Amino acid sequence: MPTSADSPVHLGPARLFPALPAEAAAQLERLGAVLAAVRPLKAKHLRDLPQAVSELSHALTDERGSGFSPDYMASPRFLTAYLSYFLPWNLYRLTRLFSGLALDLADGARITDLGSGPLTVPLALWLARPGLRGRALSFTCLDKSVGAMKAGLAIFHGLAGESPWRFHLVSGPATRLPRETADLVSAAFVLNEIAPPRRGRQAPDLERLAEQLARGLSPHSRLLVAEPGTRLAARRLSSLRHALIEHGISPLAPCTHAANCPLPGTGQSGWCHFNFDTMGAPNWLASLSAKAGLTKRNISLSFLAAAPGPVAGAPTMVRAVSEPFPLAGERYGVYGCAESGLVLLAGARERLPRPGEALTPAWPEAPQRDAKSGAAVIEVKEEPAKGRRMTGAKPGPRPAAKAGPRVGPRVGPKKEEPVKGREAAGPKPGPTPEHKAGAKPGRAPRQGPRPGPKPGRKPARKPEKK
Ligand SMILES: C[S@@+](CC[C@H](N)C(=O)[O-])C[C@H]1O[C@@H](n2cnc3c(N)ncnc32)[C@H](O)[C@@H]1O
Repeated sequence: MPTSADSPVHLGPARLFPALPAEAAAQLERLGAVLAAVRPLKAKHLRDLPQAVSELSHALTDERGSGFSPDYMASPRFLTAYLSYFLPWNLYRLTRLFSGLALDLADGARITDLGSGPLTVPLALWLARPGLRGRALSFTCLDKSVGAMKAGLAIFHGLAGESPWRFHLVSGPATRLPRETADLVSAAFVLNEIAPPRRGRQAPDLERLAEQLARGLSPHSRLLVAEPGTRLAARRLSSLRHALIEHGISPLAPCTHAANCPLPGTGQSGWCHFNFDTMGAPNWLASLSAKAGLTKRNISLSFLAAAPGPVAGAPTMVRAVSEPFPLAGERYGVYGCAESGLVLLAGARERLPRPGEALTPAWPEAPQRDAKSGAAVIEVKEEPAKGRRMTGAKPGPRPAAKAGPRVGPRVGPKKEEPVKGREAAGPKPGPTPEHKAGAKPGRAPRQGPRPGPKPGRKPARKPEKK
């Protein structure tokens, strides 16, 4: 059995959230038939499905309804609802995420998935990375619901057929990590469930979770945590990031740095998340979503990829975290996240980066500050194709860091993994003199066929339900 040192995982982001690959879209379409074979439903249960999905969706939002059982996976009705609606939407989001991460797992690599449910993370890896399908990967899936994991295993075999992937399903607490470290530790959409609050508190105990995760990682392991793009979930993720840094685990993506997160989602601050369209989602899923009153034109996600040890410093790199919005004088702006804090990238619209894209702009010696958000204003002058550096290899003048303590270790260069970008930012809402009259910062004009609320901004309407 190869050790984790033999099985490196690389998570440096190439381009976040590329379009769903055509083959993955076809497989997701096929998932409908696989589900029907794995979990055939009587006519009356089929009729009830949209209602069950709707009830579970309300129960799973952050504002949990009173009387909701945390053991929803133990209910056949809710397990069916989860498999039919939540699983495929989570697969869609994670497939877009995994497609954009430079994620590699060598033959013999071990993956531990916490709160695995119906094996959503392994299934998304299989969908997103066809190159991994022929490798001998070994998954340890932890969940208190063995029924959900078994259903996921049947779905995996229905999709993948004969596969060299091996699954060890462990029924029990998600935080009881195996003694053997894994090459990749993942936790998707589980933070509010697997980290019970300390006595007398309401919030999940993320400091304890960070400690548990840190003990389960080898120096070569990678950690990936994904959460819905709601403010509360992103706030939890930001807290976990902070706690992980204190345990020597550094962010790899989407953050470009290990300094304080400028989008912690606390108070009036924006929260770090990315919205993207639902192009390529299966027709059967769109139809069920509509019947449940949960039509999705866009979806959102917050995530953190991290690794033990220091990370490559990229002090002048900026990760775009909003869609473009109009500024005064025919110009546009995009909010970005950098080591020194929130940044407002300004310039001609076609020159601005897309959400999730990282670039190294030419920093002025003393950038002006956006009056409302306090973001450093940086003009983007180069054409994207010509002047934009995507690796941070040659930094410009180092921007002055905002006052405030650094968290975690001082980062140093790490050759094999040029980190292209880190935390997504989003400023405080509200107009500023820089912004065109009437336009709110970060409030972008529509982009693409089905846009949604901007990263780091409060959604225009109610937050997306799980
Ligand atoms: C929202 S689901 C997410 C499942 C899967 N990761 C996904 O992305 O679809 C949360 C999962 O965590 C499991 N879970 C919740 N609390 C747990 C605990 N304390 N120990 C083990 N599993 C737990 C639930 O059974 C459920 O399968």
